[in-house]
Amino acid sequence: MNKYLVIGNPIAHSLSPLLHNYWFKKYRFLDSIYEKKKVEKKDLKKIVEQIKNDEVKGVNVTVPFKREIFNFIDTAPYEVQFTKSVNTLVKENDKVVGYNTDQQGFEISLEENDWDCKDKKILIIGAGGVAPSILSTLIKVDGAEKIYLSNRTRSKAEELKKFWDKALGIYQMKKDTIEIIDWEKKSELCDLIINTTSVGLTKDEKLNFDFSDYNNKKDVLFYDLIYNPKETNFLKDARMRGNRTMNGKMMFLWQAHLAFKMWTGVSPIIDEEVIKLLD
Ligand code: ATR
Repeated sequence: MNKYLVIGNPIAHSLSPLLHNYWFKKYRFLDSIYEKKKVEKKDLKKIVEQIKNDEVKGVNVTVPFKREIFNFIDTAPYEVQFTKSVNTLVKENDKVVGYNTDQQGFEISLEENDWDCKDKKILIIGAGGVAPSILSTLIKVDGAEKIYLSNRTRSKAEELKKFWDKALGIYQMKKDTIEIIDWEKKSELCDLIINTTSVGLTKDEKLNFDFSDYNNKKDVLFYDLIYNPKETNFLKDARMRGNRTMNGKMMFLWQAHLAFKMWTGVSPIIDEEVIKLLD
């Protein structure tokens, strides 16, 4: 049996097993199974060893271990060495390699929505494990004009800014592109507002930003990376204000597509059936 895992804490909300097991069945990998596993920090080393020993074939890493796992892998592509954020593990030539498919997943999800970030103003809420991937797309691929960053723990946003400030020149971006704003304080009006925090995973949770300036702004996109629940309070409020909304479902599907391809060599089709599967 080829065993695959998604590890995190909490992990109950993850739809990765449903999706990957659907694809394993569809593409006749009948000896493969994908499970979710709630782990603690102390378990990470062992999980990597299990990949080395072929007890586990592949692993997805989610909240809050995307950065921590970097300390245990053997190697990673340049991009990941830069961001130290890993969401997919695979064994290659006896080495456990840490990849990140979030960045490309996010990029494709914007493209599919005909969203071009070039010269746009963007507010990123949160500076946790997935935020480096989002910043990476906005800076390296899309050339955003201004990126506001707000995190409850300000020091984490500062760390992220410090890190990306060094890279701005390489991508022909202005020195002051990234600006930190205090938690839940107003920034200038933006074109895209992205929630990268875990606030909203539980139904009653709510961010307390004042978005009243966005009333009836039909072209502004509010994007929540959370896909379960389908509509967080962040998105519901945006819909009521008349803004565009998008949840994390397509990003989730694409990051999974890229991981599945890495593990099996098969590019699974993302069609209506698979999109509905997650509802
Ligand atoms: P980590 O940063 O440890 O990898 P994460 O789960 O990937 O953790 O990131 C969680 C993100 O959600 C962080 O931006 C976190 O803010 P802090 O850095 O201040 O912890 C944010 N977050 C989680 N719960 C929150 C809450 N109740 N209010 C505001 N932000 C919250």
